[in-house]
Amino acid sequence: MRIAIGSDHAGYALKSLLADHLASAGHEILDLGTDAADVSVDYPLYGHAVAVTVAEGRAERGVCVCGTGIGIGIAANKVPGIRAAVVHDSTTGALARSHNDANVVCLGARTTGPAEAVDAVDAFFSTEFAGGRHQRRIDQIAGYDAGLGAVPASRT
Ligand code: RB5
Repeated sequence: MRIAIGSDHAGYALKSLLADHLASAGHEILDLGTDAADVSVDYPLYGHAVAVTVAEGRAERGVCVCGTGIGIGIAANKVPGIRAAVVHDSTTGALARSHNDANVVCLGARTTGPAEAVDAVDAFFSTEFAGGRHQRRIDQIAGYDAGLGAVPASRT
C-alpha cells in the first residue's frame, strides 16, 4: 500500500520509527516531513499535506504524528473525504478501521509509547472496514463533506 506520512517536530522521531516499520512490512512510504525534531514547525501544515495527498488518491492511506495526535488530526479532518482517527493502541487502531473506515491514522508521540504505536498502526493496516450499519454512518459523514445537513431521526 502507498502511505503518506507526516509529523511536526514533536512527532518526528515516532514518524521515523513508523515509516521504517511500515516500509519493512512492504508498504511504499511517501514522507511529507517534517525532517527534524529540533526545529519547531506547525502541525496543521503536515496534517493538511497528508490529508490532501490521500484525498487526491496519491496515497491510499495516511499516518500523522504530533505530540498528542489531536492537533494534526483536527487539521487532517478539514479535508473533504478524510476520516482521520487518533488511536492509542491495537484496539483503537482496529476499531478506527472496522467501525469508522478511517483513511488517516493519527498518533501522539508524547502520549503513546513506541511499542503501542507500532501495535496500533499494525492493527490499523491489517483491519478491514466492517460495513453494514457502519456504512450508513460513514455516508452521513460524507454528506456533511458535501454540505448536506442532517438531523438525527429521533429529533425530527
Ligand atoms: C507541539 O508542541 C504540540 O502542540 C503538537 O505537537 C500537538 O501535540 C498538537 O496537538
